[in-house]
Amino acid sequence: MRTGSTGSDDRSYGGAAGEAFAAKADRPGLNALHDRPAVLDLIGPVSGQRIVDLGCGAGHYAAALVGAGASVVGVEGSESLAAHARARLAGSDGSSVVRHNLEEPMHFLEDESMDGALCALVLHHISRRADFLAEVRRVLRPGGWLVVSSTHPTADWGRFGGSYFEERWIRRQIGSQPEETIEYQHMTTSTIVNELLAAGFTLERMVEPTPLPALKDLDPKKYEELSAAPVFLALRLHK
Ligand SMILES: C[S@@+](CC[C@H](N)C(=O)[O-])C[C@H]1O[C@@H](n2cnc3c(N)ncnc32)[C@H](O)[C@@H]1O
Repeated sequence: MRTGSTGSDDRSYGGAAGEAFAAKADRPGLNALHDRPAVLDLIGPVSGQRIVDLGCGAGHYAAALVGAGASVVGVEGSESLAAHARARLAGSDGSSVVRHNLEEPMHFLEDESMDGALCALVLHHISRRADFLAEVRRVLRPGGWLVVSSTHPTADWGRFGGSYFEERWIRRQIGSQPEETIEYQHMTTSTIVNELLAAGFTLERMVEPTPLPALKDLDPKKYEELSAAPVFLALRLHK
């Protein structure tokens, strides 16, 4: 196993919150029938590509990308989620999971060594985003793609209230227990887009996903809710 710097359990996704996220991502609900298909559609065909999955969580995307013919380096700060991702990728030659804090440089990846980078629901957890995006740009080959997804700024604003324009850290319970809580930053849509452009990426497409029809049978109330207003934002860019 390759190792990176210390992980990020101190802020979130350690222990209980990590297990709650892994369980939630496994169920055929919000992630599987809403943001994940939209993000995989934005990524498109990946056969033969080398991809870094930044903040790979329990490895759901990494496994889907490996299944589509890519080799993946998953990078994950939480020890428990890195273990889930390793188990999910077990037996896939040429792919690996590195435990590493994305606030720090990815010394284990060479310049221009990646065809694509996925950053699914991770950017809003990173404090030093300009340094992080410069590092992502460094490891991508010229023309390489970057797909980013985030919680939708208007959904967070609706949920937490206050000023839409006040950028701040918010705490959110993601499981049934109080300790299953994560922290992330509320940013405006223009901050998210402009920081990516300032880092030297070119925007190709942006989507505000709606749920797959299968969610209607599973959870009609959730389906109506997600069909009425966006809760995720996803962007495809290139270097
Ligand atoms: C909402 S989860 C998304 C996981 C995965 N990308 C997915 O969509 O299934 C956010 C992930 O980012 C990871 N993360 C957050 N901050 C991090 C950091 N500084 N370094 C490494 N990983 C981090 C968390 O541990 C968690 O796995």
